[in-house]
Amino acid sequence: MPCKLLFVCLGNICRSPSAENIMNHLIEQADLSESIVCDSAGTSSYHIGSAPDRRMSAAAKSKGIILKGQARQFQRSDLETFDLILAMDRDNYQNILFLDPQGKYQDKVKLMCDFASHHREREVPDPYYGGTEGFNQVIDLLLDACEGLLQKVVRTYDLR
Ligand code: 4NP
Repeated sequence: MPCKLLFVCLGNICRSPSAENIMNHLIEQADLSESIVCDSAGTSSYHIGSAPDRRMSAAAKSKGIILKGQARQFQRSDLETFDLILAMDRDNYQNILFLDPQGKYQDKVKLMCDFASHHREREVPDPYYGGTEGFNQVIDLLLDACEGLLQKVVRTYDLR
């Protein structure tokens, strides 16, 4: 059974699809596609069915990452389905845990920035209402965090 990772932000059109596609890129490079699978979701219903934001896609493409996917909303059953749930910011983290009042799954839910080693940010900033630089910063931060996350998953699941 592959390890299942879910990346979560607010809209599922900027940060979490970037994290998902960056992670898939690293997983393919490491030849671990059989062992780790990724998905993403948003805590809101705002953009259900939408493709990734064009500005986010442009920033990702400049680093060689193509953003694929269609927004969907996070649902309670995701807590059961996924092995690790990575929240982009503290609001996302809280909104995920609101769906787990008994704390049954809380150990699966982590802040994405906990896996970054070269950046000091504790949250992946929401780039939606900002300029181009914000989107580029999201990609840089996520490249760092995804590398750390991959190392952690490889160690935890003994995938070497
Ligand atoms: P995301 O960015 O959560 O990284 O996908 C946002 C997308 C849409 C909105 C906010 C943030 N919005 O307010 O519509």
